Amino acid sequence: MTQIKKICCIGAGYVGGPTCAVIALKCPHIQVTIVDLNQKRIDAWNSDELPIYEPGLDEVVKEARGRNLFFSTDVDKAIAEADLIFVSVNTPTKKSGIGAGFAADLKFLQLATRRIAEVATSPKIVVEKSTVPCRTADSMRTILEANHRPGVTFDILSNPEFLAEGTAISDLFAPDRVLIGSLQTKSGLAACAALAEVYANWVPKERILTVGLWSSELSKLAANAMLAQRISSVNALSAVCEATGANIDEVAYAVGKDTRVGAKFLKASVGFGGSCFQKDILNLVYLAESLHLPEVARYWRAVVEMNEYQKDRFSRKVVETLFNTITGKKIAILGWAFKKDTGDTRESPSISIANHFLEEKARITIYDPKVTEEQIWLDLTDEGTKSLEPIKPHITIQKSAEEACKDAEAIVICTEWDEFKTLDWQKIYDNCPRPAFVFDGRLMLDRAALQKIGFKVITIGTGDGL
Ligand code: UDX
Ligand code: UDX
Ligand code: ADP
Repeated sequence: MTQIKKICCIGAGYVGGPTCAVIALKCPHIQVTIVDLNQKRIDAWNSDELPIYEPGLDEVVKEARGRNLFFSTDVDKAIAEADLIFVSVNTPTKKSGIGAGFAADLKFLQLATRRIAEVATSPKIVVEKSTVPCRTADSMRTILEANHRPGVTFDILSNPEFLAEGTAISDLFAPDRVLIGSLQTKSGLAACAALAEVYANWVPKERILTVGLWSSELSKLAANAMLAQRISSVNALSAVCEATGANIDEVAYAVGKDTRVGAKFLKASVGFGGSCFQKDILNLVYLAESLHLPEVARYWRAVVEMNEYQKDRFSRKVVETLFNTITGKKIAILGWAFKKDTGDTRESPSISIANHFLEEKARITIYDPKVTEEQIWLDLTDEGTKSLEPIKPHITIQKSAEEACKDAEAIVICTEWDEFKTLDWQKIYDNCPRPAFVFDGRLMLDRAALQKIGFKVITIGTGDGL
């Protein structure tokens, strides 16, 4: 069996960075080089200010960096030296052309694959880590076989990453499972065993699952689709709770006690965000349509539609509660990241909610403990493609929750950051006009305590009861 001595990871993002940093930490005998075309990102990985915020990541990088973990922009050198290459580049949803809005844009993946073919002079195990549509490994193989140098062979594995942002390091230290898919050929199985051996340095063997290539690719889409479906289900029920006076936390608790359902991942919210859920479901929808399975496509599409409905419903509720207009009113948005403990804002519900408020011509203040001001502006201008001028006068980004809430007619909780629980709510109340509204989009605040102070509190998934 091939003994892996050198690993290269192409793509130093949210997935590649933490995953390969943990591999380096747990496997001191393996040299791990993480490469990226983005010089700024690599410089940050080599500095004290890592490019992504993830609890515990600093410590992991500090221990392994310079020992057997390296960050570089020399992609070719790292490819040439490696026995095993993780491809961890971004695979966003296509913005134009066939499948726009649904299919994954695989251009970064294909460019990276092409580079591997051109540079490799020895056999390589190529591992797809990025979330990809089913049968991507097939197209990777076609590219590799059409472009490789004589005598060079490749084995392709699928090894999807299941870490969640904010808990990436603990997820990587103790994963529920590691999934490795390979062709069921002699060399495919040997490659699979070689990668399994890497994980076996810290993951119990029974948690390392080896399956066929296509099962592995589909499992990643399926896992994310089913997780997102749970949230859309609970969010759909939250609307029923609001209309009837039932309490979604109580309902979710009661339902989750059934071991067949399970208690986790049943928290109603303003809607799910993040780079994976929506993208993966839309991939699944596109796949089903391509396979002429329109009923299947429709079923999964509804999960995303329910999420859009939830974000929209919450924004509307704010407007309705503020006597049907927020024009010129100051609204504080607390939390911009798509969940707590990350600085990532991809598909964050806060963006949709802020855009809704902007359309209603509100004045918005925004605070998030980890998201940079620069990122918030990028999100509000669709990555700089929309003009900033018309919206800029309506938005202020603040450095603390207290500042953001000053003089606000409504405070809207979009991300469940722990610090929002322990704010000096009395002081905030004293600085707000009356009536002072709090909209808890994460069911995280002590409603009774806020009401005692004098706030009118509207919580997702509960009857009004202000
Ligand atoms: C997800 C999957 O959990 C992970 O396994 C996969 O590898 C990548 O996609 P991530 O997007 O990082 O991870 O975060 P996750 O914790 O799944 O949350 C996604 C979104 O759902 C967030 O906006 C979160 O706030 C929301 N959510 C989650 C809820 O609204 N309610 C819940 O009960 C759980
Ligand atoms: C169900 C609920 O399980 C029970 O808690 C409630 O009180 C009444 O409704 P029941 O209808 O008796 O109970 O059986 P259940 O085991 O839930 O199966 C329902 C149907 O789902 C069956 O046709 C079963 O074959 C099917 N099923 C169940 C599947 O197709 N796949 C599964 O994984 C589980
Ligand atoms: P993810 O959340 O999937 O990790 P990110 O966008 O955070 O996605 O990271 C992907 C990284 O891959 C980016 O930093 C990007 O610059 C890098 N990348 C994309 N294409 C290539 C390539 N051909 N070679 C090296 N790095 C690449």
